[in-house]
Parts: sequence; C-alpha cells; structure tokens
Amino acid sequence: MSEILINGAKKLFGEIDIQGAKNSVLPVLAATILCPGECVVHNCPHLSDVETSLKILTQLGLRCERQDNTVTVNGVHISGYKIPENLMREMRSSVVFLGAIIGRTGKAVISSPGGCELGPRPIDLHLSSLRRMGVTISEEHGFLYCEAPEGLKGAEIHLSFPSVGATENIILAAATAKGLTVIHNAAKEPEISDLADFLNSAGARIYGCGSDTVYIHGAERLSGTEHTIIPDRIVAATYMACAAVTGGKIKINSVMPSHMVSVLSVFRESGCSIEISGKSLIITAPKRLQRVPTVRSMVHPGFPTDAGPLIIAMLCVADGTSVFVENIFENRFRYADELIRLGAKIKTEGKIAVIEGVSSLSGAGCKATDLRGGAALVCAGLAAGGTTTIGEIHHIERGYDDIVGTLKKLGADIEYTNT
Ligand code: EPZ
Repeated sequence: MSEILINGAKKLFGEIDIQGAKNSVLPVLAATILCPGECVVHNCPHLSDVETSLKILTQLGLRCERQDNTVTVNGVHISGYKIPENLMREMRSSVVFLGAIIGRTGKAVISSPGGCELGPRPIDLHLSSLRRMGVTISEEHGFLYCEAPEGLKGAEIHLSFPSVGATENIILAAATAKGLTVIHNAAKEPEISDLADFLNSAGARIYGCGSDTVYIHGAERLSGTEHTIIPDRIVAATYMACAAVTGGKIKINSVMPSHMVSVLSVFRESGCSIEISGKSLIITAPKRLQRVPTVRSMVHPGFPTDAGPLIIAMLCVADGTSVFVENIFENRFRYADELIRLGAKIKTEGKIAVIEGVSSLSGAGCKATDLRGGAALVCAGLAAGGTTTIGEIHHIERGYDDIVGTLKKLGADIEYTNT
C-alpha cells in the first residue's frame, strides 16, 4: 500500500499552475447526461473522483474518452438509469447524477449515498426538491427508486439550507423540465455558476447563479458543447498553506482571486503577503505566522469549510492561539488527532477547534482520515522537522492531481513509498 513520505522543514519556492476544480467537474460530467451530443470538457484534473464519474457515465451507456486534461463525452445514446452500488459508495457526491439521469430518462435508481468521514451526509433537500418537480421516490433495501411518470415539471423551491449538492441537483433536473423552476436560498459557490455556464452553452436557460435566487427556464432539448472547468480554489488554498507553513514564497498561476476573497483575508491576517495580478498570485510567508483569533466556516462567499483543515494545519505553528468554528459539517475534525501526532496542540469540542501555536512540529507516522484532512497532514509534514509518513492516501488522491509532483516542483522533499 503506498504512502507519502516527507522530509520536512524545507521552505517552498517556485511557481505552479492550479488544476481544474473537482467540485465543478463532477456536476459538469453529470450534466453531460442531459446533452444528446458530444461534450468536450477541458481542464479536467486527474482524480479518482473523476475516474468514478466517468465509470458512472459509461455504465449509463455514454461514450467517454480522455486525452490529457480533456474529457470527451458522447451522450447521443443512453441505455441505463441505474448507478451501481459500488460506484455510489466510491463517491458520495454521485447523488448529483440523480437530477440529470431523471431529466434524460425519466427515472433513476441509486443506492443511498450514506454518510462519509465528515459525518452524516443527508440528502433530504435533494429528494424533497425532486418530489416538488414531479418525481416519485421510494426507498427499499437501501436503494432509491425514482420516477417522473409525467416528466419533470418546473417548481418553486425554498431550500432550508443553501446546500451545494441540492442546488446542483435541482438545476440539473430543471434544465429540461417543463416550465420555470425558481430556487430560493440557493447555494452561491462558484462551482454552481460554472455548472450553469456549461448548461447554458448547451442551450439551457439558467439565470441568477451566484445570488440567492436561481431561475431555470426548462429547455426543449440541449446539445453537445465545449467548456473549460474553473480553477480549484481549495487546491489553491492548499498550496498557499504549504508555502505559508514552511516560511516560503510561491507563485500560483491560473487562479480566480475573486473566488477566494474570504480565504485570502485569512492568509493576510496570519501575516502572509499576497500580490495579485490577473489570474496569478504570489504568496510570501512572514518570518513567523501570526495567530488568527477566530475563523468561521460559512457558505459562500464566507470562508469555505473545505479550506478549514489547511488553515488549521498552518496555524499549528503560528505565534499564539487561534480558534476555528466549523459551521457546515458535524464531524470535520477527525484529522486533528493525526496533527497532534506531529506535535500540534489542538483541542476540539463539537464544532470548535482551539489551535495553540507551537514553535515547530516534528515528523511522525500518520493516516489521512478524509480528503482535506489528508491534505492538512501533507501541509503539516512539510513544516515538521524530520520524516513524516502519511497512510490511507487514497483519500487525498480523490481531490488532488499529482500533489507529490506539484510539491516537488516547489522544492519539497516528498515521495511515494510502498510499505
Ligand atoms: C459540496 O458537498 C462539496 N462537494 C463539499 O466538498 C463541500 O464541503 C460542500 O459542498 C460545502 O461547500 C462537492 O461539491 C462534490 P452541502 P455537499 O449539500 O453538496 C447538509 C470536498 O472536500 N445537508 O452544501 O454534500 C449537509 O449534511 C467536499 O471537496 C442536508 O442536511 O454539501 C451538510 O451539513 C467535502 N441535507 C451541509 O448541508 C441535504 O439534503 C452542507 O452540505 C444536503 C445537505
């Protein structure tokens, strides 16, 4: 089983490009199901979650090809409407395929996606919204049997929580439904606007993404299209934290600073200097990072929950004590115990983590507990004196395209090992 091995305490310097956004490419690949033509999607990162998505599309009868960072999906024919349980289990976010499969075929069968390492991951908002659009849903033996006997119809939907996945599922179901769908209290993440851009380029009529209210006028029929995925703002934050925690200076190209406003302000508050020019930014770490009194994760445009583990890893060596409040997921601090193995001083209680900065971390063996928690261990290992080994790295490979190669480019002493 391979692990990541890091000999830490080396400052990072250099220049990198940022991969396409995982949380945009997944719903966009789901959206290709609605397009009875050829869709060419550029800037697709090499991630296990993308491979799982392509397996789901192939299982449904679509033809998928990959050439470097470009994926071509031919959706002229679709022959299925079921997602096998093993693929549902591989990737929790496969629930976002539901709206697209029903939109194209009128029915869908998926297994309940189940919880994951961040706590229970209910889909009640997805299901109640689809029911309002005319979908009958029955749950038997852990499977959801969905059917729209009279076809999907537009509806007015009020989300009790601006769920990213539920907003995406409704948009996918509404894109070719009969009539107008309005989503109140919609999620505003940039990945949702990217999904709408993809669908509108295929003939959909979606307005208002990025605001609280999204309007989708159902289109008769969509077509094939070509689209480039936006940069991954969480991966950008990850490499920024790696530079900050090692006292380095790096240049990151192909980012969208407007997607990262709340993240940039936390880096600045910790003493990092950030110069922005167009789609590039340079981050320079201070001699010693400063504590950030309180960081709260919020829905967009607030501080993104996914960047929380990276900021916490960075603040482990700050001067003073910082507090992180996790407002989105119930159980997102499982990686804290692993950081403590590297000498971090972190106390977690419910949704609050108190991080008492230490002067240095020391390398140790640890295990990734989830995607961003695993990235946090890489970040801390880069700062730690001595050797850090990280197991269970399949979690990390779900969302980071060649994290080892990218960090090597920045001067890190990092490699895969086989244990
Ligand atoms: C998306 O997950 C992202 N995943 C997550 O990124 C991200 O953390 C999250 O949005 C929040 O930004 C993808 O886009 C593939 P939610 P999603 O629905 O859609 C509750 C990463 O590391 N909820 O906005 O599952 C839910 O339990 C991943 O890249 C309901 O109660 O997030 C959670 O507490 C992790 N009922 C909160 O809402 C529902 O029907 C936010 O969930 C749906 C969600």
